Amino acid sequence: MTDLTKLEADLSALIAAAPDAAALEAVRDAALGKSGSISDLLKTRGAMSPDERRERGPLINGLRDRIGAAIAERKAELEAGELDARLAAEHVDLTLPPPPERRGRVHPTMQVQDEMIAIFAEMGFGLAEGPDIEDDFHNFTALNFPPKHPAREMHDTFWLPQDEHGERKVLRTHTSPVQIRTMQRTNQALPGWIANGPPNGGEPPIRIIVPGRTYRSDSDATHTPMFHQLEGLVIDRAIHMGHLKWTLETFIARYFETPLVETRFRPHHFPFTEPSAEMDVKCDRSGADIKIGQGDDWMEIVGCGMVHPNVLRTCGLDPDVWQGFAFGFGIDRLGMLKYGVPDLRDMFASDVRWLDHYGFSAFAAPNPATGLS
Ligand code: PHE
Repeated sequence: MTDLTKLEADLSALIAAAPDAAALEAVRDAALGKSGSISDLLKTRGAMSPDERRERGPLINGLRDRIGAAIAERKAELEAGELDARLAAEHVDLTLPPPPERRGRVHPTMQVQDEMIAIFAEMGFGLAEGPDIEDDFHNFTALNFPPKHPAREMHDTFWLPQDEHGERKVLRTHTSPVQIRTMQRTNQALPGWIANGPPNGGEPPIRIIVPGRTYRSDSDATHTPMFHQLEGLVIDRAIHMGHLKWTLETFIARYFETPLVETRFRPHHFPFTEPSAEMDVKCDRSGADIKIGQGDDWMEIVGCGMVHPNVLRTCGLDPDVWQGFAFGFGIDRLGMLKYGVPDLRDMFASDVRWLDHYGFSAFAAPNPATGLS
């Protein structure tokens, strides 16, 4: 008959001496595994006489329990030891320099937009916004584009598929629809779109700028299918072309931080302004970079004019009382001119090397008091 006392002493010694988790597991298997020494003993109970079983059964069970507990205890001990050993071996060297950190840059378009907002804010303009997906009414009809007029095609419009009401929405081809949304604000419920319109809720006088994305199917060195415009709208009594010219020229001198930039106004046609004009800036585009203040080239940067009486009437304003001017700048083009970007398409190619070169630090927020960039 197995000597239980000796078996317990042998197993206890093996458990205490197990140097690691694997050795301990081997001991556990030899004692309590499928054909371990204690498991074999447990199996013998079936063949015992009732008296024998009453006497020896509890002894075998007790042995099994104590050995099981001893293994668990040793296991916890070994694990604690492993942790101590790891803590002793591993340490953090706080004197090491941190890994280089990739810092994001502000895109030139966003920098220029912030510069423009800062300048116009100084001139007393509030900020308004509108949706990128427009309806035909706001993008064309209310802006005095006659139905079926070729001017509707002039913009190479991206049309969306017809919706369930038979209506075709457009990706707005310009920011001018926000003129309509602003002037109609008192007449129609247009919740949400005007972020911070005129303080009096749309009644003239109105003095707003509208920065935003615009879309036309067009691509070359100075056109991309998505680009940015900054619209301006001023409505008041006795407003005339002189106010418009002063506003744009003052802005340009401020934006380029020199009064020497040469500009010219050319007569133009827009359905929603009368008279209409475009303003160009003189620059040099002969080399790899665009240079402002030199050369004989002109770059168109803004369309403008006096708000057409039909547009005022559509928005519920009496043209005999209210007049106004509007303008629409190409924000990206102003960025090309100021920061010497030769090809507009690079602006939206999402090339990180390009952004590292032309981008701005997030701390260089434009501030008219301390410098624009
Ligand atoms: N919306 C015109 C364009 O995109 C620009 C413009 C705005 C012209 C306001 C006149 C007045 O070309």
